[in-house]
Amino acid sequence: SQRTLVLLKPDAVRRGLIGEIIGRIEAKAGWTISALELRTLDQATLEQHYGEHRGKPFYEPLVGFMASGPVVAMIVEGERVIEGVRRLAGPTDPIEAAPGSIRGDFGTIVRENLIHASDSEESAIREMKIFFPEA
Ligand code: GTP
Ligand code: MG
Repeated sequence: SQRTLVLLKPDAVRRGLIGEIIGRIEAKAGWTISALELRTLDQATLEQHYGEHRGKPFYEPLVGFMASGPVVAMIVEGERVIEGVRRLAGPTDPIEAAPGSIRGDFGTIVRENLIHASDSEESAIREMKIFFPEA
Protein backbone atom coordinates (compact mmCIF):
# COMPACT_ATOMS: atom_id res chain seq x y z
CA SER A 1 0.00 0.00 0.00
CA GLN A 2 0.97 3.69 -0.18
CA ARG A 3 1.70 6.47 2.29
CA THR A 4 0.97 10.18 1.80
CA LEU A 5 1.65 13.39 3.71
CA VAL A 6 -1.47 15.37 4.61
CA LEU A 7 -1.60 18.83 6.19
CA LEU A 8 -4.77 20.38 7.60
CA LYS A 9 -3.95 24.03 6.94
CA PRO A 10 -4.33 26.85 9.51
CA ASP A 11 -7.80 27.79 8.19
CA ALA A 12 -9.05 24.23 8.84
CA VAL A 13 -7.70 24.32 12.40
CA ARG A 14 -9.06 27.84 13.11
CA ARG A 15 -12.50 26.94 11.77
CA GLY A 16 -12.79 23.80 13.87
CA LEU A 17 -12.77 21.44 10.90
CA ILE A 18 -10.08 18.99 12.10
CA GLY A 19 -12.62 16.37 13.19
CA GLU A 20 -14.76 16.76 10.06
CA ILE A 21 -11.80 16.32 7.70
CA ILE A 22 -10.10 13.52 9.63
CA GLY A 23 -13.51 11.81 9.80
CA ARG A 24 -13.73 11.76 6.01
CA ILE A 25 -10.25 10.24 5.76
CA GLU A 26 -10.89 7.65 8.47
CA ALA A 27 -14.22 6.69 6.88
CA LYS A 28 -12.40 5.25 3.87
CA ALA A 29 -12.11 1.50 4.37
CA GLY A 30 -8.53 0.38 4.74
CA TRP A 31 -6.97 3.80 5.27
CA THR A 32 -5.20 4.44 8.55
CA ILE A 33 -3.43 7.40 10.13
CA SER A 34 0.06 6.30 11.14
CA ALA A 35 1.51 9.63 12.35
CA LEU A 36 -0.19 12.82 13.53
CA GLU A 37 1.00 16.08 15.09
CA LEU A 38 -0.33 19.61 15.70
CA ARG A 39 2.42 22.14 15.08
CA THR A 40 3.18 25.67 13.89
CA LEU A 41 5.46 25.63 10.85
CA ASP A 42 8.60 27.76 10.66
CA GLN A 43 9.97 29.48 7.55
CA ALA A 44 12.66 26.84 6.92
CA THR A 45 10.13 24.00 6.92
CA LEU A 46 7.80 25.91 4.62
CA GLU A 47 10.60 26.80 2.19
CA GLN A 48 11.46 23.11 1.95
CA HIS A 49 7.85 22.04 1.60
CA TYR A 50 6.81 24.65 -0.99
CA GLY A 51 10.22 25.10 -2.70
CA GLU A 52 8.71 24.26 -6.11
CA HIS A 53 6.59 27.43 -5.89
CA ARG A 54 9.39 29.85 -4.88
CA GLY A 55 9.33 32.93 -7.14
CA LYS A 56 5.64 32.59 -8.05
CA PRO A 57 3.40 35.56 -7.19
CA PHE A 58 1.40 33.54 -4.64
CA TYR A 59 4.47 32.12 -2.86
CA GLU A 60 5.02 34.78 -0.15
CA PRO A 61 1.34 35.06 0.84
CA LEU A 62 1.09 31.25 0.80
CA VAL A 63 4.03 30.85 3.19
CA GLY A 64 2.70 33.67 5.40
CA PHE A 65 -0.67 31.99 5.58
CA MET A 66 0.80 28.56 6.30
CA ALA A 67 2.79 30.03 9.23
CA SER A 68 -0.23 31.95 10.60
CA GLY A 69 -1.31 29.23 13.02
CA PRO A 70 -0.92 25.56 13.80
CA VAL A 71 -1.47 22.86 11.19
CA VAL A 72 -2.22 19.18 11.68
CA ALA A 73 0.44 17.11 9.90
CA MET A 74 -0.21 13.43 9.34
CA ILE A 75 0.79 10.37 7.39
CA VAL A 76 -2.09 8.39 5.93
CA GLU A 77 -1.54 4.83 4.73
CA GLY A 78 -3.65 2.69 2.45
CA GLU A 79 -4.49 1.46 -1.03
CA ARG A 80 -4.02 4.23 -3.63
CA VAL A 81 -4.13 6.78 -0.83
CA ILE A 82 -2.05 9.39 -2.72
CA GLU A 83 -4.62 9.83 -5.49
CA GLY A 84 -7.43 9.11 -3.04
CA VAL A 85 -6.79 11.96 -0.62
CA ARG A 86 -6.29 14.37 -3.55
CA ARG A 87 -9.74 13.33 -4.75
CA LEU A 88 -11.28 13.77 -1.31
CA ALA A 89 -9.74 17.26 -1.21
CA GLY A 90 -10.89 18.36 -4.67
CA PRO A 91 -9.21 20.84 -7.05
CA THR A 92 -6.82 23.53 -5.71
CA ASP A 93 -9.32 26.34 -6.35
CA PRO A 94 -12.40 25.69 -4.18
CA ILE A 95 -14.63 27.39 -6.77
CA GLU A 96 -13.83 24.49 -9.10
CA ALA A 97 -14.29 21.85 -6.40
CA ALA A 98 -17.52 19.85 -6.44
CA PRO A 99 -19.79 19.64 -3.40
CA GLY A 100 -18.87 16.48 -1.52
CA SER A 101 -15.17 17.25 -1.67
CA ILE A 102 -13.47 18.95 1.28
CA ARG A 103 -12.57 22.08 -0.69
CA GLY A 104 -15.98 22.06 -2.41
CA ASP A 105 -17.85 21.88 0.86
CA PHE A 106 -15.76 24.27 3.00
CA GLY A 107 -13.40 26.26 0.75
CA THR A 108 -13.80 29.79 -0.55
CA ILE A 109 -10.50 31.27 -1.77
CA VAL A 110 -7.60 29.48 -3.41
CA ARG A 111 -4.98 30.25 -0.78
CA GLU A 112 -7.12 29.10 2.13
CA ASN A 113 -8.09 25.73 0.74
CA LEU A 114 -7.99 23.73 3.98
CA ILE A 115 -5.84 20.75 3.10
CA HIS A 116 -2.59 19.71 1.48
CA ALA A 117 -1.96 16.20 0.18
CA SER A 118 1.14 14.92 -1.63
CA ASP A 119 0.62 14.84 -5.40
CA SER A 120 2.83 11.82 -6.28
CA GLU A 121 4.81 8.98 -4.73
CA GLU A 122 7.97 11.06 -5.14
CA SER A 123 6.41 14.10 -3.41
CA ALA A 124 5.05 11.87 -0.64
CA ILE A 125 8.52 10.50 0.18
CA ARG A 126 10.08 13.96 0.06
CA GLU A 127 7.35 15.54 2.21
CA MET A 128 7.18 12.74 4.79
CA LYS A 129 10.93 13.24 5.36
CA ILE A 130 10.34 16.94 6.07
CA PHE A 131 7.53 16.44 8.58
CA PHE A 132 8.24 13.01 10.06
CA PRO A 133 11.96 12.30 9.56
CA GLU A 134 11.80 9.49 12.14
CA ALA A 135 9.04 7.68 10.20
P1 GTP B 1 -1.20 21.73 -1.93
O1 GTP B 1 -1.74 20.40 -1.57
O2 GTP B 1 -1.32 22.75 -0.85
O3 GTP B 1 0.19 21.64 -2.50
O4 GTP B 1 -2.21 22.22 -3.05
P2 GTP B 1 -2.24 21.80 -4.56
O5 GTP B 1 -1.25 20.71 -4.84
O6 GTP B 1 -3.67 21.57 -4.90
O7 GTP B 1 -1.76 23.13 -5.24
P3 GTP B 1 -0.30 23.64 -5.62
O8 GTP B 1 0.75 22.69 -5.11
O9 GTP B 1 -0.31 23.97 -7.06
O10 GTP B 1 -0.23 25.01 -4.82
C1 GTP B 1 0.08 25.01 -3.44
C2 GTP B 1 -0.86 25.96 -2.74
O11 GTP B 1 -0.59 27.29 -3.18
C3 GTP B 1 -2.34 25.75 -3.05
O12 GTP B 1 -2.94 24.79 -2.22
C4 GTP B 1 -2.91 27.12 -2.78
O13 GTP B 1 -3.11 27.30 -1.40
C5 GTP B 1 -1.79 28.01 -3.26
N1 GTP B 1 -1.97 28.40 -4.65
C6 GTP B 1 -1.76 27.65 -5.76
N2 GTP B 1 -2.02 28.33 -6.87
C7 GTP B 1 -2.42 29.55 -6.47
C8 GTP B 1 -2.83 30.73 -7.15
O14 GTP B 1 -2.90 30.79 -8.36
N3 GTP B 1 -3.15 31.80 -6.36
C9 GTP B 1 -3.08 31.75 -5.00
N4 GTP B 1 -3.40 32.84 -4.30
N5 GTP B 1 -2.70 30.66 -4.34
C10 GTP B 1 -2.37 29.58 -5.05
MG1 MG C 1 0.80 20.79 -4.30
